[in-house]
Amino acid sequence: MKYFILTFGCQMNYSDSEKIAAKLKRAGHQSAKTATAADLIVINACSVRQSAVHRVFGQVEKFRDKKIAVAGCLLPNDKKRLTADNIPFWYPDDYFNLTPLRQNKFSAFLPVMTGCNNFCSYCVVPFTRGREKSRPAKTIVAEIKSLLKKGAKEIILLGQNVNSYRDKKINFPRLLKTINNLPGNFWLTFITSHPKDMSDELITTMARCQKITPYIHLPIQSGDDKILRAMNRHYSVAHYKNLIKKLRLDFKKHRPAWPPLAISTDIIVGFPGETIKQFQNTLRLIKEIKFDMIYFARYSPRQGTAAAKLADSIPQCEKKRRAQAINQLLKQTATRLNKKYAGQAIKVLITSTDKDFAFGKTITNKDVKLPTEKLKCGDIIDAKIISTTAWGLKGHEK
Ligand code: SAH
Ligand code: SF4
Ligand code: F3S
Repeated sequence: MKYFILTFGCQMNYSDSEKIAAKLKRAGHQSAKTATAADLIVINACSVRQSAVHRVFGQVEKFRDKKIAVAGCLLPNDKKRLTADNIPFWYPDDYFNLTPLRQNKFSAFLPVMTGCNNFCSYCVVPFTRGREKSRPAKTIVAEIKSLLKKGAKEIILLGQNVNSYRDKKINFPRLLKTINNLPGNFWLTFITSHPKDMSDELITTMARCQKITPYIHLPIQSGDDKILRAMNRHYSVAHYKNLIKKLRLDFKKHRPAWPPLAISTDIIVGFPGETIKQFQNTLRLIKEIKFDMIYFARYSPRQGTAAAKLADSIPQCEKKRRAQAINQLLKQTATRLNKKYAGQAIKVLITSTDKDFAFGKTITNKDVKLPTEKLKCGDIIDAKIISTTAWGLKGHEK
């Protein structure tokens, strides 16, 4: 059979799709170039917001005339909808032992843990992915060694909360140090960190390990302590600010050379009961921290979560207004931060090319566009940045 996998959601799901592809290939199936050319459509679902669930079921409707299977993150009620429709839901087995069929040889996603024990009051993930499970460090290191041998330039460790990784005595900082000590010239990145579990040991390890890229994604969700409590996040705004301060100081100390640490975050607007004043606290925090990137979303009630019991009190139009206010502020901050890149030299990993241009990302995870010339996917080059906007950089090979 010819299969096509449609992936929704986060990097974890993209990585899981590569595992599903490996399984299908092993069973003798071939991948189709397009969904239309396929006999089997696998939909790898995300349920983080209701809009994502709508998209999943939209695709189910669209491909009714084909064989369909659904995998990934789905709530019990939505699984029942599939059963009623005779559509199978695929559960992952031998999850960590299944070597993915990677789309991209140069940037390799590598789940080190799955699931989540945190039960943030708005979040579906503990219900769809179950409890935390860490992969043995030995097999992680072995897979990375083999990836590096095959030419990988960037290793992206994945987990819902990588900070709580543990394999007996090996915690996350120790895992990072072991990987950092492997020979070769490669970038090491990880997502996602949780502010409540970001230890001093992890901060120092990040700053000291030269292969770890100077970039961190550290979701804050809200800049208001009362909302953070209602979200069950287990940290305060002061704690978060202190983490950022320590991170920036440690990077300055151990890596004084350009570029400085880049920081991105996630924010939810319109959580139940979020007042204008509480939202303004979030805006104030954004101004203070100066994020390089913010992934913001309007609150969406998820069935079975603690927050779903509260009234979804902020009207859509107000949620939209708050999202726009964040976007505007982000645009100002990112414009200013990116301007500092103009005229600077920086390492860039080339991720795609066309006839005229090469596209890549800086070691700080910013998008760059360069004239193609001799550049190939997977090259790590020294680039010079010529011009900048809020959302990306332009430059050329030095
Ligand atoms: N483990 C990560 C986040 C995983 S979900 C963490 O703790 O930060 C990715 C992002 O989706 C979250 O950071 C949050 O900003 C957003 N999100 C999760 N549930 C949501 C909901 N019910 N409504 C809107 N956004 C949500
Ligand atoms: Fe969801 Fe919170 Fe777990 Fe992140 S830490 S996956 S937001 S429950
Ligand atoms: Fe990721 Fe969506 Fe699942 S964000 S963990 S695919 S619910």
